[in-house]
Amino acid sequence: MLTPKESSVVVLVGPMGVGKTTVGKKLARALKVPFCDTDAMIMGDHGPIADIFANQGEAAFRQLEHLALLRALGNDGVVATGGGAVLLEESRIALQRATVVYLSTDGKHMNSRLSKGNRPLLSDGIETWKKIYESRRDLYERVADIEIDTSDQPLAQTISEIKEKLGI
Ligand code: S3P
Repeated sequence: MLTPKESSVVVLVGPMGVGKTTVGKKLARALKVPFCDTDAMIMGDHGPIADIFANQGEAAFRQLEHLALLRALGNDGVVATGGGAVLLEESRIALQRATVVYLSTDGKHMNSRLSKGNRPLLSDGIETWKKIYESRRDLYERVADIEIDTSDQPLAQTISEIKEKLGI
């Protein structure tokens, strides 16, 4: 049984490149609710993420990410987060209000997915991705109400598993 939450928002968390934005958009469409993406909110207000990391540093980015998360939690719908949105304790506390879906992966197909995009923390590629994921795995598990293993799974299957586990 899922614990009833203060907010009706569904938040997707998980490692870089796992597909939080793609799954989130499709899930929001299926549920007929709005979608938002904290990375896109930050970019809309402050410009490219790589520039924020380069000019202001990661700690400043995490603060912007926390504020974007709080804003996103104030509305209805599905929210995709960045892979590091679980790092600040205040963000993890805020996430308790929402239903949190952790998209996990065995990492086998990540190489090709990560070659797309401009992620400042991944300049060294897949080995760095693995280390970062390992260091955060426990945090994803702690904030999650449900976990969906997305490895070797088509998008439609991921969406129907989420709907089934959420009982919607
Ligand atoms: C980050 C993940 C990125 C983005 C930023 C930092 C991270 O989002 O927020 O580059 O620390 O894991 P995606 O998970 O959408 O790649």
